[in-house]
Amino acid sequence: MAHTLIIFGASGDLTSRKLIPALYLLHQKQRLPPQTRVLGVARTRFDDAAWRNELAATTQRYVGQTFEPAAWQAFAPMLFYQPGDVSRLEDYASVAARLEAIEAGSPATRLYYLATAPELYATAILHLGQSGLADESRGIRRVVIEKPFGRDLASARELNQIVHRVFAEHQVFRIDHYLGKETVQNLLVLRFANAIFEPLWNRRYIDHVQITVAEEVDVGRRGAYYEQAGVLRDMFQNHLLQLLMITAMEAPPRYTADFVRDEKVKVLRAVRPLSPDDVVRDTVRGQYEGYRAAEGVAPDSQTATFAAVKLQIENWRWQGVPFYLRSGKAMSCRTSQIVIQFRQPPVMMFSEGRRSHHDPNRLVIQIQPAEGIQLHLQTKVPDAGMTLRTTDLDFRFAREYAGTMPDAYQRLLLDALLGDASLFARSDEVEWAWSLIDPIQTTWDTTGQPPLELYPPGQWGPQASDDWMHAQGRQWFDVCPVLH
Ligand SMILES: NC(=O)c1ccc[n+]([C@@H]2O[C@H](COP(=O)([O-])OP(=O)(O)OC[C@H]3O[C@@H](n4cnc5c(N)ncnc54)[C@H](OP(=O)(O)O)[C@@H]3O)[C@@H](O)[C@H]2O)c1
Repeated sequence: MAHTLIIFGASGDLTSRKLIPALYLLHQKQRLPPQTRVLGVARTRFDDAAWRNELAATTQRYVGQTFEPAAWQAFAPMLFYQPGDVSRLEDYASVAARLEAIEAGSPATRLYYLATAPELYATAILHLGQSGLADESRGIRRVVIEKPFGRDLASARELNQIVHRVFAEHQVFRIDHYLGKETVQNLLVLRFANAIFEPLWNRRYIDHVQITVAEEVDVGRRGAYYEQAGVLRDMFQNHLLQLLMITAMEAPPRYTADFVRDEKVKVLRAVRPLSPDDVVRDTVRGQYEGYRAAEGVAPDSQTATFAAVKLQIENWRWQGVPFYLRSGKAMSCRTSQIVIQFRQPPVMMFSEGRRSHHDPNRLVIQIQPAEGIQLHLQTKVPDAGMTLRTTDLDFRFAREYAGTMPDAYQRLLLDALLGDASLFARSDEVEWAWSLIDPIQTTWDTTGQPPLELYPPGQWGPQASDDWMHAQGRQWFDVCPVLH
């Protein structure tokens, strides 16, 4: 069966920076299903040749040295362009006619990719339905919806209802590109293809878990967008909660989309929702100095660019084990990492002398950059009595694998084309995630508590975040990944 990918928003940044480079590399690796074509749709009046020319330049820029002119020449004839406005129902007739022409009368699986501004998702979906383009009588129809999916629980529910008027849930692929990352999938493999971690992966042996997604960059020119979003909507509702689910979930009976997602949703259902008092006690919010001077940002903005949140998962595995989630902009370095911190040994028999305690065992899962896993252990310093030091068993993808790590979009586009939804968010998952984030955002917005702490760019967030951890007898693992 042939496949057609229809990208709405084909003249935009996501298309040129992520989607087309991913498709080009998949084509180069001969991974795309046979007879795959791409139809780009946006208001800009390109024709096929102009769009291909434009994408040749941008793809070369984004894939770098792996760009080969001959491979591009083989790929470019798969690309077609149809000018169209997603808010005009009549333009879908031109899209439909163009699809018929491209597919030359033989049925194809169609994947509609919504890469426009989120305000247009609902209109595009309803128009796909009204114009008959979602009708499956002549082939499979799927839709990919980019993030953000809603801006709170109410809007996500409303969007889900609109989506379900036109598409059944199994046709819907909601993107969280973190799930396309090799290291996130590797966490599933680490947990469920190795027997040695399972006995330790619970409240008896784990003291707490830290999940950090730190960005070194500030908001740059995206101030107007960020003002409306803030760190909770931008990072927590999606990426951080995805990492939490994969870290905490039970083993699914089989690796199928619904079994995996059932287990993930169970984690969110077990998270204790935060009351307003909990929010004041269990969250820290910050804003980097200089944010208010960014383009599109209010001079008295209260938008958080940093947050730390403590969540409790109330089930037999995790009762009493705090999960600390934090994310921010203008931080010390770019890193996404999960730290599993184990309990101390019950008796510290080597504690005499200068050091009264040792660093605990930690499993550090580096999502990006420096993708890999380190297990921190205590070892003896040779020829120094019983002095101990922390060393680590260090696995790096870069050392074990000669190729470059594929961008998440390669995996996600291929899975969506082939109909595997394991790495996409289901409607209930998205709604549960919002139901955990909404009370935090609402308490912040309505009470102004906890106070918005300013922090200088280039730090691990505000001092209040470190103090908050110390008050709980814990410490953030503030180590930038070593890139070599
Ligand atoms: N860029 C990223 O890295 C990234 C990452 C994650 C998620 N996303 C999400 O992906 C989506 C697209 O982001 P982007 O950065 O690519 O935005 P963008 O650069 O502003 O592109 C928006 C695209 O939508 C098209 N468009 C706007 N109004 C339209 C209409 N009425 N009918 C048809 N096309 C219309 C624009 O083209 P015309 O003006 O030619 O119509 C353009 O092609 C957003 O929802 C964003 O949240 C982006």
